[in-house]
Amino acid sequence: MPTLAVHGGAGRLDRRARRAEIDAALERALGAGFDAAGGGALDAAVAAVRVLEDDPLFNAGTGAVLTATGGVELDAAVMVAAGLRTGAVAGVIDFANPVELARAVMEDGRHVLLSGAGASRFGIDCGLAPIDPARLAGAARRQDGSLGGTVGAVCRDDRGALAVAVSTGGTAGKLPGRVGDSALCGAGFYADLAGAACATGHGEDFVRLVGCRRAVELLAGGMDAQTAADRLIEELEARVNGLGGIIVVDSAGRPGVAHNAPYMSWAWRTAGGSARWSD
Ligand code: GLY
Repeated sequence: MPTLAVHGGAGRLDRRARRAEIDAALERALGAGFDAAGGGALDAAVAAVRVLEDDPLFNAGTGAVLTATGGVELDAAVMVAAGLRTGAVAGVIDFANPVELARAVMEDGRHVLLSGAGASRFGIDCGLAPIDPARLAGAARRQDGSLGGTVGAVCRDDRGALAVAVSTGGTAGKLPGRVGDSALCGAGFYADLAGAACATGHGEDFVRLVGCRRAVELLAGGMDAQTAADRLIEELEARVNGLGGIIVVDSAGRPGVAHNAPYMSWAWRTAGGSARWSD
């Protein structure tokens, strides 16, 4: 049985009033991920993230926050441990599932990160369907301030393959053109033979620390997933006064979750059981 961990973001916003809805969405994401896991860890992680992108409760895809000028600019990425293959997109305004666009970048293989109009052009050339940017911005305007955050998933499948997928609208009121950790390999996501990691929180902090690469490095040094997640968040606070959270899976299929942000929604499922956020 695979190990799949998902998160729905970390931050200062008290999400407990929406707990039932958030938990239902995370369960749907785990279910979609497990349904897809026969295709491998990447299929599982992408399927889980797609569910959360489509849920307006979260700051990703439909429901992403607005920039300072009232638009929506989406970042997303995927990575697999085998061959360190990765793909990412930044500043996407017209795709509701940018994680699929990021996967197409990885599968194409020429580049690891496409931004803005070039990313959109590439998506259309790949046969993915764009949407009117006004629809994404309209969904953001209809939000009531109880948003979840960035969404992400890490998976180790039955064959031991490791993958991560992540998607976000970035920070509310960001300057147009700002790119956060979720599009930057090593910062907001990373996968290598020792494990996979996915961050959430204030992206600039994870970029400065190259946080997810650091978490996987801790795994490679012999830590299990929970110990590495705890250590990474300690370092985030100590080194850059950062705020956020991280989900990790190690090569043995053990999950780990840690955060110093007041609230983080997450859930995981393994052969041995399941768990979800309790704060
Ligand atoms: N962690 C998401 C962002 O800051 O863009």
